[in-house]
Amino acid sequence: MTDFLIAPSILSADFARLGAEVDAVLEAGADVVHFDVMDNHFVPNLTIGPMVCSALRKYGVTAPIDVHLMVQPVDRIIGDFAEAGASIITFHPEASTHIDRSLELIRAAGCQSGLVFNPATPLHYLDYVMDKVDVILLMSVNPGFGGQQFIPTTLDKLKEARQRITASGRPIRLEIDGGIKVDNIASVAAAGADMFVAGSAIFNQSDYRTVIEAMRAELAT
Ligand code: DX5
Ligand code: ZN
Repeated sequence: MTDFLIAPSILSADFARLGAEVDAVLEAGADVVHFDVMDNHFVPNLTIGPMVCSALRKYGVTAPIDVHLMVQPVDRIIGDFAEAGASIITFHPEASTHIDRSLELIRAAGCQSGLVFNPATPLHYLDYVMDKVDVILLMSVNPGFGGQQFIPTTLDKLKEARQRITASGRPIRLEIDGGIKVDNIASVAAAGADMFVAGSAIFNQSDYRTVIEAMRAELAT
């Protein structure tokens, strides 16, 4: 049986109560904290940086923190996030001038590394770096905001990414981010995803446990 990871995106959390919100989703059964970093340059929104990641660690969060960088440039923020307690760091290939180097910097900093693909970004960026990625993250919305609609062509792209992972023989995670809900999580799992980011679907409900358990029930079918 595949082990599926549920990664709530704190983009949709109440930032004024962030520590308590993270505790609540982990207590409700989440596996990973998805941490969206936006710079108002690579994407048209501005969020949080290494200080907030570090604050969550000091607050006592021990779960893996999955840092999704939507920033340009990439390299100079990698070390700061590693020091701040990031577990996984992913970036968009368009945002890095030297993709191989950025991936190596992440691993050298002691984190798991990954590439993120926008809906219209081809997977060929993986061609020569499959041995340097631990995670492939496919965006199923255009990045920048929570609460957008899932783009259905992502299903075929997930299948292609899963084929690449199988061919590589490496235990690479296939993460999906954007518009994931209880009613579509089974279809993205069937297409090959094994790590699921969900922001609004979880944080817009009052009872996080009910949503996460409903997602797991869908994954078990
Ligand atoms: C979008 C972010 C996502 C976002 C997902 O740019 O990368 O992680 O928070 O939010 P939902 O699940 O609401 O689409
Ligand atoms: Zn994200």
